[in-house]
Amino acid sequence: MHATRIIVLFVCITFCVNGYDNEHTSEHSLELTQSLNLARQELIQETCGRLPLKWGLDDLPPSQLEHILVDDDHKLLYCYVPKVACTNWKRILMILAGKWNDTDVLSIPASLAHSPGMFRNLSSVSKEDRDIMLENYQKMIIVRNPFERLLSAYRNKLEGSLPSAKYFQDRVGKRIIKAFRENPSNESLEYGHDVTFKEFALFLTNRSKELADVVNNEHWQPITSLCHPCLIKYTLVGKYETLLDDSLLALHTINASQIQFPRLARTSGTSEKLRKYFSQLDLPLIRKLYKLYKYDYKIFSYDLDNIVGFDLG
Ligand SMILES: *[C@@H]1O[C@H](CO)[C@@H](O)[C@H](O)[C@H]1NC(C)=O
Ligand SMILES: *[C@@H]1O[C@H](CO)[C@@H](O)[C@H](O)[C@H]1NC(C)=O
Ligand SMILES: *[C@@H]1O[C@H](CO)[C@@H](O)[C@H](O)[C@H]1NC(C)=O
Ligand SMILES: *[C@@H]1O[C@H](CO)[C@@H](O)[C@H](O)[C@H]1NC(C)=O
Ligand SMILES: *[C@@H]1O[C@H](CO)[C@@H](O)[C@H](O)[C@H]1NC(C)=O
Repeated sequence: MHATRIIVLFVCITFCVNGYDNEHTSEHSLELTQSLNLARQELIQETCGRLPLKWGLDDLPPSQLEHILVDDDHKLLYCYVPKVACTNWKRILMILAGKWNDTDVLSIPASLAHSPGMFRNLSSVSKEDRDIMLENYQKMIIVRNPFERLLSAYRNKLEGSLPSAKYFQDRVGKRIIKAFRENPSNESLEYGHDVTFKEFALFLTNRSKELADVVNNEHWQPITSLCHPCLIKYTLVGKYETLLDDSLLALHTINASQIQFPRLARTSGTSEKLRKYFSQLDLPLIRKLYKLYKYDYKIFSYDLDNIVGFDLG
């Protein structure tokens, strides 16, 4: 059962001793990434095995599978998770499907990659075909620390001033302010532009029916609800923290190594940002928020150390 972890340890020692080469293209780097990938799969299955699962794949309404995009040519199923490199991976799927001619991933406008109807998803596949795909295709997911993803969504959609933020402020921000702010200004009610992180947290943890339609938004829904990792055995489990290596492994596995995964500018100060925003919440509220993302934390082996200094789980 722990063989994979022993291999990981062994490979890691080998690399630490030999020095890790930074090209991210060598066989060894892929081997190391693959052994981490296998260890992640094993951990997901172990965790899922301990959870009281109430349903199987056949019990899910098909709409529950709409985040899983299908590429038949490369035998790939990709469960996209907003705020976890999904724009770049959607761009790659477009290039792979011949929907864009330039091989420069970043040349594709983000809005095009996100346009409705761009990709086929698993919700519209018959049960028979779905089961064949699940058996034979690579199944990819890329995950991220749940609170880091949540903060990224807040900063991008509610705090920011990008056009996509305006849309969310109008559709969601106004309602959050109406429900959770005492004596809101007319401007705040009209534009929904200044929702605080605390109000956002109150909104997410409030279980009232009136807000259910906006609480259930893919940008902050738990990854577990979007991708069902206990029902679908993902074979490529990437993490945002090791995005480049994991993406290279995925491209290699589907025979698409010719595609250059865009190198991201390293985001700095992530843990300071987390501490800054989460310090605006009291511990009971953090606890409630943690409960919402508990399965994401457990199944993908994240912990809360970086936020409250200890694990609430
Ligand atoms: C999934 O596919 C269905 C049927 O084609 C479509 O109506 C739906 O919008 C798609 N969902 C997503 C998230 O792409
Ligand atoms: C990738 O290439 C290998 C070796 O040519 C082949 O066995 C495998 O089926 C290919 N995979 C896909 C998804 O095309
Ligand atoms: C890609 O280029 C080919 C040949 O130049 C052209 O026929 C095709 O329409 C282009 N496809 C797209 C999606 O731009
Ligand atoms: C806010 O709107 C209310 C109702 O429309 C109005 O009575 C009030 O004067 C407005 N306040 C300000 C500061 O504009
Ligand atoms: C949900 O929000 C409403 C409106 O602000 C509030 O009255 C209610 O107490 C909240 N419920 C919970 C469980 O926080």
